[in-house]
Amino acid sequence: MIEVRIMLELRQICKRYSSISVVTDVSFVARPGEITGYLGPNGSGKSTTMKIITGLIEPSSGQVLFEGRPIQDDPMGFRRSMGYVPEEPYLYTHLSGIEYLQMVAQLRDMDPARSKERIRGLLQLFGIYGDRDVPMSSYSKGMRQKVLLSAALMHNPSLVLLDEPFSGLDVGTSLILRSLIEELARRGKVVLFSSHELETVERISSHVVILHKGKVVADDTVANLRVFMQLPSLEGIFAQLAIEQDFVAISCEIADLIHA
Ligand SMILES: Nc1ncnc2c1ncn2[C@@H]1O[C@H](COP(=O)(O)OP(=O)(O)OP(=O)(O)O)[C@@H](O)[C@H]1O
Ligand SMILES: [Mg+2]
Repeated sequence: MIEVRIMLELRQICKRYSSISVVTDVSFVARPGEITGYLGPNGSGKSTTMKIITGLIEPSSGQVLFEGRPIQDDPMGFRRSMGYVPEEPYLYTHLSGIEYLQMVAQLRDMDPARSKERIRGLLQLFGIYGDRDVPMSSYSKGMRQKVLLSAALMHNPSLVLLDEPFSGLDVGTSLILRSLIEELARRGKVVLFSSHELETVERISSHVVILHKGKVVADDTVANLRVFMQLPSLEGIFAQLAIEQDFVAISCEIADLIHA
């Protein structure tokens, strides 16, 4: 039997702010060659766990392991192996797209000639090469997202963490990204991405982890969840596990409220 090496492992991650728990006992593994879809309602703890995986914030307890070792054992090495698209970017918007990417390449200690070539190629392939010298303050949301994707991928990371990566992308670019995520997994990378677009998640994920109020309520393939829960779609499964409100009643209440 071929042993599948576990690449990314979260062990009982908890995060508390003051005494409030926002993430409780989150454990799962994401493997090379697989796409892990990370789902949950607003405020369920997805971005918090993503930031804990990157080392940006410390968990209150629990461990993140990469290739079997706690990430804090070799933070620099881990950072070089990882590409991360944050949900809320703090881009240096006075810089142009190309200046920002050059800065990221320098911080990562990439070979200057190689990074120059990759940055040029990525900007061309994402269709923003013509705007490379314009300050990012005048970029549209989608253009900024393309810069963030380029920054996350240009050093060929083995772990790809994408927090709502489709946010702001047009239809054509979303199709490119969907296909790119699949290609990265085929090339053996560990891919973890969060999204509210269940159709995309259902289509490309090898398995899904669903969070609800900071806890894992499902960790399985979509196919298995369909069978276990006797529901035909990920949307139905998600609704059963993670949605409590009556959306029709709430929508009517909102309309009544503003109409009164
Ligand atoms: N710095 C902080 N201080 C206090 N509470 C925080 C902090 N950061 C996040 N939280 C809380 O943690 C919870 C989880 O937030 P998080 O951003 O991880 O959710 P999410 O699943 O990514 O949601 P969304 O789908 O809206 O992006 C929220 O209730 C949020 O208010
Ligand atoms: Mg989030």
